[in-house]
Amino acid sequence: MTTTSLSALEEIQAREARHVLQTYRRAPLAFVRGKGVRLYDSEGREYLDLLSGIGVASLGHAHEGLARAIADQAQTLLHTSNLFYHPLQGQVAERLAELSGLSRVFVCNSGAEAVEACLKFARRYWYTKGESRPEIIALEESFHGRTMGALSVTSDEHYRAPFEPLLPGVRFVPVNDPAALLAAVSSSTAAIIAEPVQGEGGVRPLTPAFAAAINEACAKTGALLIADEVQSGLGRTGVPFYFTELGLKPHLVSVGKALGGGVPVGAAIISDEVASTISYGDHGSTYGGNLLACRAAICFLDELTSGGVLDNVRRVGRLFEERLRAIAAKHAFVKEVRGLGLIWGLDLTRDAAPVVPAGLAHGVVVNRTAETVVRLLPPLVITEAEADQALGRLDAALLAVGAGA
Ligand SMILES: Cc1ncc(COP(=O)(O)O)c(C=O)c1O
Repeated sequence: MTTTSLSALEEIQAREARHVLQTYRRAPLAFVRGKGVRLYDSEGREYLDLLSGIGVASLGHAHEGLARAIADQAQTLLHTSNLFYHPLQGQVAERLAELSGLSRVFVCNSGAEAVEACLKFARRYWYTKGESRPEIIALEESFHGRTMGALSVTSDEHYRAPFEPLLPGVRFVPVNDPAALLAAVSSSTAAIIAEPVQGEGGVRPLTPAFAAAINEACAKTGALLIADEVQSGLGRTGVPFYFTELGLKPHLVSVGKALGGGVPVGAAIISDEVASTISYGDHGSTYGGNLLACRAAICFLDELTSGGVLDNVRRVGRLFEERLRAIAAKHAFVKEVRGLGLIWGLDLTRDAAPVVPAGLAHGVVVNRTAETVVRLLPPLVITEAEADQALGRLDAALLAVGAGA
């Protein structure tokens, strides 16, 4: 063994290959630090980050305010459990309630946990009412997470098949098909679950007509609506929640990703009507809403509501749209540009996988989802100049992929 000749990256790879459970097919590079929208790898190369760790590093990397808040909290108090009060969880709940118009919040640690909580609370609501509602309606191309409940409402067969049987009673309807939705929802439906902008499924915003059908179905049957805003929420589309833009009236909303700016935290936001059916002991989490997570969330929410983040998303989002449409016009294999704000997908006429390494070679981080889609989820604080430079690099990467075809 000549371990001395291994590069920093090779050493990292060799150690992981021995001991990390192989559930992720990683790109062959290791990021070791970041600043704003820039990332640096173990070999000292710089990248512009158009992915933000899949929509998580919402304030960019090494954000000074967030770093200070986390460090301060670490020196004060990190965790005490939910057996006791602390001063921060109520503040997070209050702000999420104000932003969403729903009144109660359960704080957890991830998007999947937030979805899981919403599913449980929907079940609990009908149990309290004494009504049998065995069905849940979910959408095709949906993604809600990898825990058993969240996976049960996720449509992708590849993710589901090895883990069946999943939750019974889940039916999938085609996205943006109002008639199919109206036909599927009945007085047996406990809840409809939908992402206002489908993310993993290829960046597909729900249409206003489909949103109207969801409202109609809920009004007719009493079914609850769960809006999964884990990816689309908290500023990503230029507003706090995209469900408001669609006119949806959810009873439950799941959030995660952007909320902690990189510190794991999620939340289920719940209407009074549903919350009034939940009792002590119905749900819980040892870590959920600890001081560290809440401090990070407060820092993010401060930036979102008074730090100019929403204005920035709207302004830079316009530049993304313009530049991406110009890029699409240039490369024949870009079939469609979908998205808004700072969530975008370039749907290709072929597998988008080669765009990822080509992007990295050109110094830009992007992601492939739904086989043919190049997905962009940059930090919400990206400037126009940074966006311009990053999209220039993406353009060059697409050119290289096109030339290699
Ligand atoms: C809409 C949506 N819901 C839920 C999840 C699951 O979140 P997490 O990976 O934090 O568990 C994701 C993750 O991509 C998501 O996009």
